[in-house]
Amino acid sequence: MSRRSSLQGLWSSRRSFVLAATGAAVGLGNIWKFPYLAGINGGGAYVWVYLGCILAIGLPIMIAEVLLGRRGRRNPIDGMRLLSEEETGGGWWRAVGWAGVATGILILSYYSVVAGWALDYTLRAAINLFDRGELAQAGRAFDQLRNAPLRQVLWHTAFMAMSCWIVAKGVKGGLERTVGYLMPLLFLLLLVMVGYAAGTGGFAEAVDFLFHPHAGLDGRTALVALGNAFFTLSLGMGVMMAYGAYLPEGISIGRSAIAVAVADTIVAVLAGLAIFPVVFAQGMQPALGPGLLFRTLPAAFLQMPGGSIFLLVFFILLVCAAWASSIGLLEPAVAWLVERHAIPRARAVLIIGAIAWVIGFGTVFSFNRWADVKVFGQTIFQNLDFVTTAILLPLVGMLIALFAGWVMSKSSSADELAEGSLVGYRVWRFAIRFVAPLGIIAIVIHKLVR
Ligand code: TRP
Repeated sequence: MSRRSSLQGLWSSRRSFVLAATGAAVGLGNIWKFPYLAGINGGGAYVWVYLGCILAIGLPIMIAEVLLGRRGRRNPIDGMRLLSEEETGGGWWRAVGWAGVATGILILSYYSVVAGWALDYTLRAAINLFDRGELAQAGRAFDQLRNAPLRQVLWHTAFMAMSCWIVAKGVKGGLERTVGYLMPLLFLLLLVMVGYAAGTGGFAEAVDFLFHPHAGLDGRTALVALGNAFFTLSLGMGVMMAYGAYLPEGISIGRSAIAVAVADTIVAVLAGLAIFPVVFAQGMQPALGPGLLFRTLPAAFLQMPGGSIFLLVFFILLVCAAWASSIGLLEPAVAWLVERHAIPRARAVLIIGAIAWVIGFGTVFSFNRWADVKVFGQTIFQNLDFVTTAILLPLVGMLIALFAGWVMSKSSSADELAEGSLVGYRVWRFAIRFVAPLGIIAIVIHKLVR
């Protein structure tokens, strides 16, 4: 069987790959999670651990994932099976592909609900439906939305349909074209937002909050930062493998991955710089948790001159970012159905989309009907979030590092990374064999003993 036999197409250029991978990376993780996590974890110290995790652990693992993807040249499950057989004689490592694909579907299920909130807010901001007085008092708009399961289900459905529609159109016509428009638009809107925030009077305070370590870190915080780093780079769930499988030969994996990681980090930092100045300028608290974007921010914006327009811009931005990411969440599982089971692409998208859609109800109801249904003291949504980002992502990331660094022969990885420099290769190999696995272990142990 030729390596390319069932492949779904190749990216037209390095730029397309970088755009698509950046599209997957930049999303709710950067604009919603990173700011609220930085907010509840005290700012500076969290931010530096997060940045350290991206550089020392995230980047080498991203390179490894793309490398495995391109070498396997098929969806993550079959790709890992093939590589596993080639390198070890057994197919055991395909479990990595399975875990990644399953994690993707779980994340998509709640991702789509949160993106649905953003859609709801976009519409409300557009037709100026926010009631200024009420919002300023208590963020009632968010509570109303959270207590309206049907409304959330509708937006969740709308968002899932938007994502399925693009993925059904395939790699070139769907993915590549869409992110080609969305990503530049997103950067532009974000810069506009930061420019606006810089004029609010809270900018210096925001910079201090984000970059000056004010408090120490406990174990849970470091683990959260690691999970956040994996999540934001879209690691540990097969999407970088799936996208790597469509990467033509002769394109440098290292340089592409660096571009993606840098772009992703810039967006997260810019999002922080767009949000916190507004929050501080209005004398509000940074530590509000998941409601930061949906409760605090609208209230803050609406009290400022021109704020309602910028609020609208902000939520459009959030929807675009989430949209490009959800495409990446669908792709690995869809590619597997299409390649392995010869299911037509549109039908494969419907199947995976429907599974994630149904699981998403658990998240919707976590905020209302099932708010009292607790497993380990947490709601379904909190469990989904914790199990995926704090457990599955680091675990799969670790396995990928072990496979690429220790199981795969040096000649295989050197062959795949041959476009880069020799020094670059040595640094990567050291990072993937030692720094990344030991870093993950250290953070997990730190969490367990505290
Ligand atoms: N990186 C995305 C974000 O920051 C979320 C995400 C995690 C993702 N894993 C993914 C997106 C896999 C696409 C594919 O919002």
